[in-house]
Amino acid sequence: MTEFTEETKARIEALLKQYPVKQSALLEVFWIIQSEFGWLSKEAVRWAANVCECSPAHAWGVATFYTMYKHAPTGRFLLQFCQNVCCHIAGAEDIISIAERKLGIKAGETTSDNLFTIVRVECIGACGSGPAMLVNDDFATDVKNNSLVMEQGIGLNEERLDKIIMWCKDRAAKFPQEPKRDPLGGITGAIHGEPHSLDFAPPPPALGVKATVVESGVSIIWKIAPEVTALTVERKNGSKWEAIGNPSTKDKEFTDTTGKAGSEYRIITTSGENRTRVSFCFSAAAKPK
Ligand code: FES
Repeated sequence: MTEFTEETKARIEALLKQYPVKQSALLEVFWIIQSEFGWLSKEAVRWAANVCECSPAHAWGVATFYTMYKHAPTGRFLLQFCQNVCCHIAGAEDIISIAERKLGIKAGETTSDNLFTIVRVECIGACGSGPAMLVNDDFATDVKNNSLVMEQGIGLNEERLDKIIMWCKDRAAKFPQEPKRDPLGGITGAIHGEPHSLDFAPPPPALGVKATVVESGVSIIWKIAPEVTALTVERKNGSKWEAIGNPSTKDKEFTDTTGKAGSEYRIITTSGENRTRVSFCFSAAAKPK
């Protein structure tokens, strides 16, 4: 397997430390590998099994269960056409044939310039807007304001498909390399705008936040998602919240030396430029004797 970048190795290492059972990180490790190499080779799956301390057979079963993992290199734009019932009734076969004709390839093939791969997939959860497709990870049945969009109840037709193909070609001309996206940083919006634009879903808030009165003040603990890049602990002062510390993302505990039983805290996490919802507020409880 081609070597990982140092950044990716460090990221996987940090990720694995967050799970008491390393196997739990398998899906995310696959996702990071795929974002670096574009697909998951058997060798990569074996490597992931090794670092996640599970059997290669288990890792392979997981990698092949989820269709979002690719097992062969694809073109830069993977056009995934839904062929399931609702889309079929709405004309998916016609649209797939039109795409095949326009790009000069059959489903399962890649254009010679490596720009497009066409695949048939089962329901992508856009049944009310069929026939529907994904361009890489994004729903797309039209192009508006220079972005891929999918509007409720409006499926693909030849004209809209032309616009999507043209959008992909324009993007390839404008960005010879697809701008890198954070593989764990969001759910949608990968190529609607630039990476880290506001259409990325915010990361989850800090979870399992607890505060306990200890000898040196109030000890606060939490758990955060791997994509969190900064966190702030705040304490309530009257009706206002005041920042009292910025622990690092590696920290798992913060002590408020001036805190006492009854103090209220909350944690705010951010990922890149995106701020999450605040964590639950709570009062510090006295430590049971
Ligand atoms: S049947 Fe095509 S998205 Fe559900």
